[in-house]
Amino acid sequence: MSSSTILMCQPDFFSVEYEINHWMKGNVNQAATGKAQSQWQDLMAVVEKCAKVTLIEPQKGLPDMVFTANGALIHKNKAVVAKFQPKERQGEENFFKDWFKDKGFEVCDAGDEPFEGAGDALFDRGEDRLWAAHGFRSSLETHKKIQEIIGVEVLSLELVDPRFYHLDTCFCPLEGGYLMYYPKAFSPESQELIISRVAEEKLIRVSEDDANNFALNAVNVGSNIIMHKASAELRSSLEKEGFTVFETPVDEFMKAGGSTKCLTLRLDEH
Ligand code: ARG
Repeated sequence: MSSSTILMCQPDFFSVEYEINHWMKGNVNQAATGKAQSQWQDLMAVVEKCAKVTLIEPQKGLPDMVFTANGALIHKNKAVVAKFQPKERQGEENFFKDWFKDKGFEVCDAGDEPFEGAGDALFDRGEDRLWAAHGFRSSLETHKKIQEIIGVEVLSLELVDPRFYHLDTCFCPLEGGYLMYYPKAFSPESQELIISRVAEEKLIRVSEDDANNFALNAVNVGSNIIMHKASAELRSSLEKEGFTVFETPVDEFMKAGGSTKCLTLRLDEH
C-alpha cells in the first residue's frame, strides 16, 4: 500500500438542492440519498486499497461538501484554500480552512477572486508543474498568486464547454507523466499549450462518451485508476501503459456534477 492520504467527506447531507452547473439542471431533489451513501462507501473501500482515507465532518445545509477536491489545493505543507464562486458553496470555506489549520497545514489564499481548489488545479505527474483552469469557476487572476505561493510553474488552461466546468472533469494527469484528457473541453490555444508541453506518446485522448461518463474525473494513486466507468477502448489503452482500472459507480453524485475524483482530495502533493 502506498503512503498517500486522501480526504473524503461522508455524504450525510448530500443531495441536489440547487443548480450551479450543467449536470445539476433538472436534478434538484433527484439524488437517492440511500444509494448515494452506499456508492460512497463502496468508493471509499476501493480508495482504501491504495491509500489511507481521512475524513472531514459533513455539515448540514452544505450538500456539496462531499466534493472535497474543491476544498483546497495542497502542495507540501501548504493548503491554498478555496474561494467558491457560487454562493451556495461559500459556507464550506471556513470548515475546510479550520480542518487544514487543525491538521497543521499552512493555510494560504489565492486572493479575492474565485478559486475552487484541486477541482481546477492539478499537478502534472511527470514534470514539476501545475495545470490550472479558468473560464467557469476559478479566475485566471488567481494563477499568478498560486505560482508565487507554491513556487511551481503554473500553466493556465481555458475551459470552454459548460459540461466540463472544472479542470478535473476533462483533464487527468497520471503517474509516469501520462495525461488523459478531452481536447474539445479547452480553447484552441489551450489545446496547443497541452500538445506543446506533453510528449505525444504520453497523451491519452478520450472520447466524448467517456468524458460524459466522467472517465476523466478519476483518482490515480500509483498504477491504480479509480473511475465511474471506462469504455473497453479506454480501459485497454490505460492497461497498455501499465495501469489497473477500477470501476465503481457513483451516478448519484454525477447528478450533482461530480464523480470519483471530486469526492477525494489528495493530501500528499510534493
Ligand atoms: N455540485 C458541485 C459544484 O458544482 C460539484 C463539484 C464537483 N467537483 C469537482 N471537483 N469537479 O460545485
